[in-house]
Amino acid sequence: MSKTYKILLLPGDGIGPEILAQARKVLEALSQRFDFSLEFSEALLGGVAIAATGDPCPPETLEAASGCDAILLAAIGDPRYDTVDPDKPRPEEGLLRLRKTLEVYANLRPVRVFAALRDASPLKEERLGDVDLLIVRELCGGLYFGKRERFYDQAGAGTAGAPGQCAYDTMDYQEYEIERIARIAFEQARQRSGKLHSVDKANVLETSRMWREIVHRVAVDYPDVELIDILVDNAAMQLVKNPSQFDVMVTENTFGDILSDEASMLAGSLGMLASASLGDGVGLYEPSHGSAPKMAGLDKANPLATILSAELMLRSSFGENEAADALIAAIEAVLAAGWRTYDIADDATPIEKIVGTAQMGNLVRRSLL
Ligand code: IPM
Ligand code: MG
Repeated sequence: MSKTYKILLLPGDGIGPEILAQARKVLEALSQRFDFSLEFSEALLGGVAIAATGDPCPPETLEAASGCDAILLAAIGDPRYDTVDPDKPRPEEGLLRLRKTLEVYANLRPVRVFAALRDASPLKEERLGDVDLLIVRELCGGLYFGKRERFYDQAGAGTAGAPGQCAYDTMDYQEYEIERIARIAFEQARQRSGKLHSVDKANVLETSRMWREIVHRVAVDYPDVELIDILVDNAAMQLVKNPSQFDVMVTENTFGDILSDEASMLAGSLGMLASASLGDGVGLYEPSHGSAPKMAGLDKANPLATILSAELMLRSSFGENEAADALIAAIEAVLAAGWRTYDIADDATPIEKIVGTAQMGNLVRRSLL
């Protein structure tokens, strides 16, 4: 009997609906070719959810999320709700609440450089080396979820006596949060090249000193993995200077957010960077890029990060490795044939090889059938 997987689609904002439609197309093609069926449902998250309900992550969305086998999310962020007013809802809050509710604390962001796209990276060929790395980003703690406040300090205490606005965000971590992400990273490193860089700012931050201590304690259970500590500022520099020294990098939430955008350029574009957000329950798969509101509706966005997120879903949530391998091969074939979306094209790309969002989706789909 063939298996049926229930996938919840969250198109979100901006380019979200366009890129998600391509991933769906590709998944449907895979279900025709392989022995599984798919059942799709859709829910609101982000700016679209604020527009419809006033809430960026409505209860119906959380309910739908708990009743599916995996979630594929496209993009969140809408300039209509860009506000500096702390009392107004923001689209991004919806995503953070979803991640926290699902407790998907491990965000895996593989930076895979497709051979055909080596030219698309701003890094020189010899610097790029044989880069292939995985960023393991802690996703449910740190600055993103710490206590924060904005207030007017009438007395001016601690502000050189002058009254004025004050704001703070706190970065806090508990032992178990670091331990569980460290274990995921060591497991990944064990399956890959046996090398793990732990990225922190232990020369300044207390959370980082605790991070380092706990990561080293966990390391005792993984004697086959080489553990290297690196400070985050140095890691940012080394990613550009000598990226192929890295294999698996594990880091806290904010550092991982920043470093993964940086690392995505090794693969040529943020439009190529997929991610899997995993915990003990249902997995959430999301490209690492935003909603690119200026590109929305123009059929210009690169759908490959979302399609590659679907590939991670096939592997991690469904164990459909053969289908996932076929999908990678299809993307490789399309890129090798010279097809490019705008973000990965360059001056040498013939104009007739530059395609829009839907056509890129069609090309991958066709290559699968
Ligand atoms: C990401 C994004 C999100 C984040 C935003 C949209 C809240 O930048 O997934 O990297 O900061 O986590
Ligand atoms: Mg980000």
